[in-house]
Amino acid sequence: MGGSAKIDYGIKRLRPVTPAFDMLKDESRLEGYWMLVRLGDGWASGRNKFLKRGEALFGAWHGGELAGVCGLNIDPYFEGRDHGRVRHLFVSGRHRRAGLGRTLVETVIDRARRYFTVLNTRAPPEAFGFYERLGFQRVEDEEFVTHRMVFGKGN
Ligand SMILES: CC(C)(COP(=O)(O)OP(=O)(O)OC[C@H]1O[C@@H](n2cnc3c(N)ncnc32)[C@H](O)[C@@H]1OP(=O)(O)O)[C@@H](O)C(=O)NCCC(=O)NCCS
Repeated sequence: MGGSAKIDYGIKRLRPVTPAFDMLKDESRLEGYWMLVRLGDGWASGRNKFLKRGEALFGAWHGGELAGVCGLNIDPYFEGRDHGRVRHLFVSGRHRRAGLGRTLVETVIDRARRYFTVLNTRAPPEAFGFYERLGFQRVEDEEFVTHRMVFGKGN
């Protein structure tokens, strides 16, 4: 895919109710990840439809194929509405290391800084390096957060 992410992919708000979403969900499940299953279930039950203040769900399209997903929620592990949380990030194996994960998460960061004071995530160890490349700080001592970006003047 080599570096062509900004040309080839279209980032749009996503409703996870299409056959293209089901295909990406099946791929993620085969790889042992459950984030897209939880995303689909949460949407179907109405528990999480990304409708609260600041929230959004994004998909990255490569033609008719859904190549990646990333959501922004109010962090349910904290009181109040000041903490945002990156959730349900998944990029198809065929599209990795082409800048797509970065494009999706930077879309979420740009939105999150308008609504939240910090942006949290709980990443699996294999994704720690990815978040750290994007400027998230490692959090060692919290149960529900492995990485955080703090918004302030100048960032
Ligand atoms: C983690 C994941 C989203 C990364 O997506 P991606 O599209 O391959 O990432 P990008 O190509 O945008 O990489 C962005 C940067 O992170 C780096 N990077 C990507 N994956 C990395 C990894 N596993 N370890 C270390 N660095 C990594 C890239 O080299 C790149 O650096 P650069 O922009 O400075 O050159 C993707 O591998 C994935 O979906 N994995 C399975 C599910 C998962 O772990 N999700 C995270 C749950 S919170």
